[in-house]
Amino acid sequence: MHYPKLSIRQVERVFRGPNGEQTQALLPVDYQVNENDFITILGPSGCGKSTLLRIVAGLDTPTKGEVWLDGERVEGPGADRGMVFQSYTLFPWLTVEQNIRFGLQERGISKAEQKARSDYFIHKVGLRGFEQHFPRQLSGGMQQRTAIARALANDPKVLLMDEPFGALDNQTRVMMQELLLSIWEASRKTVLFVTHDIDEAIFMANKVAIFSARPGRIKTEVPVDFPHPRDYRLKTSPEFMALKARVTEEIRAETMLAH
Ligand SMILES: Nc1ncnc2c1ncn2[C@@H]1O[C@H](COP(=O)(O)OP(=O)(O)OP(=O)(O)O)[C@@H](O)[C@H]1O
Ligand SMILES: [Mg+2]
Repeated sequence: MHYPKLSIRQVERVFRGPNGEQTQALLPVDYQVNENDFITILGPSGCGKSTLLRIVAGLDTPTKGEVWLDGERVEGPGADRGMVFQSYTLFPWLTVEQNIRFGLQERGISKAEQKARSDYFIHKVGLRGFEQHFPRQLSGGMQQRTAIARALANDPKVLLMDEPFGALDNQTRVMMQELLLSIWEASRKTVLFVTHDIDEAIFMANKVAIFSARPGRIKTEVPVDFPHPRDYRLKTSPEFMALKARVTEEIRAETMLAH
């Protein structure tokens, strides 16, 4: 039987402030994600994108609604979902290599395999030579690349990425986009990826989900049918430009509503 990989069912989130005031972050969000989907999420600041990702990760509980993964209800965090956060979240007392190996070690993966996977991804994210450095000895972008390597090394069923490349310089960002895309092209892993960069959203995705202004809901989904493998030249093609114009218009309408 075919069922969606990830099912977000009527998920709603209301935050309560210290004086009892309420912020509705998410309106009921209903969204189905198929195995092999690479979904990018665009939307105005404060519309609830991080909130939704945290709920899928099991780090936050919806006020109403449910999330199901592979036919099981999400009740908390798990190794089946790998998260890269908007800000740096490495363990400060562990080195780059130890951070990357941590989850693998927890799952009882052999030392040889831990080492092989961490070496592979350290190389891929361009951090060779920094294996034994602690996060405080790294730049912000290097910390974020370590967090990305950690998530990829864990090989989760679903990758949840919250503006993972936001802190990177443009050249590194393009390299990381190509790295993630090549991994996705080989593994067709399910990815939910939040970004503010429209080019990035279109380049990576097979579907772009556009959020409304807060309280957020998924307003539109734009399919992106460009064939794989894709490379950076796609970004300058007329078809890409046309799709970008369409997505930009959708976002602009929402951003104006938000202000
Ligand atoms: N822990 C919290 N307590 C109270 N309010 C919160 C909390 N987390 C988020 N919010 C509120 O929920 C709304 C959505 O926040 P969220 O971080 O999900 O937005 P976002 O779409 O990720 O924004 P950005 O693009 O700026 O990262 C905001 O109004 C925010 O103030
Ligand atoms: Mg956010």
